[in-house]
Amino acid sequence: MTKSKLQITLDGSHTLISNFEGETYHSSFGAIQESQHIFIKHGLAQVHDYMKRVKILEVGTGTGLNVLLSYLWSEDNDVSIEYKGFEPFPLQENEVADLNYPKLLSIKNEIFSLIHSNKNKEIVLSNMFTLKICMSQIQKAQLRDNYYNLVFFDAFSPDAQPELWTTQVFTKIFKSLASGGILTTYSCKGSVKRSMQEAGFDIEKVPGPPGKREFLRATKG
Ligand SMILES: C[S@@+](CC[C@H](N)C(=O)[O-])C[C@H]1O[C@@H](n2cnc3c(N)ncnc32)[C@H](O)[C@@H]1O
Repeated sequence: MTKSKLQITLDGSHTLISNFEGETYHSSFGAIQESQHIFIKHGLAQVHDYMKRVKILEVGTGTGLNVLLSYLWSEDNDVSIEYKGFEPFPLQENEVADLNYPKLLSIKNEIFSLIHSNKNKEIVLSNMFTLKICMSQIQKAQLRDNYYNLVFFDAFSPDAQPELWTTQVFTKIFKSLASGGILTTYSCKGSVKRSMQEAGFDIEKVPGPPGKREFLRATKG
């Protein structure tokens, strides 16, 4: 498979330009900035207050940036995390090695390599953080009911992957969330919002990171 192209975003962190319709993995305004804002500040930080163990589900683990930021969060906030990702097209080893996240986030390269090491097996990153990345499509995943507290919905865009942003997929995710659980995603598209509502979610529009006016946060009430 051809390597994705590396790009430096405006906060100095890398992203990748995929061979799949030229879709990028993150915002060109800042990859770390975007992930930190949408998934950590307005996702993880919203559920951790009342929980000592947070169960996260990610759709599209890609570069592993959200895993890395969640790992750092768990260390800084003494919150235990069980993280499960779905990624049918994992990066090649040399693509992972080129990314500057460990350097920018002051994390050992070994931790970042470990995140990308063993697909379909549980990996222990610390006594506070376990990770399992399943190499399969979210549409085919068997998810436990009423289990997760937080979902990072980070697939490629609704225009590129319309089959993922459907009522059917959101209904499956809705069922897998525990009551009060939330889903965050970078998209703010009307059709996405309607599919989420049809699945049963309550929707909020939240102010976005630089370069993005708003994004969607969905709650299982
Ligand atoms: C926007 S990028 C990933 C961003 C990622 N969270 C990161 O920080 O690098 C979208 C990801 O979704 C993955 N993907 C594509 N089809 C998928 C599917 N059916 N189920 C789950 N993930 C999928 C892609 O391979 C890609 O890694």
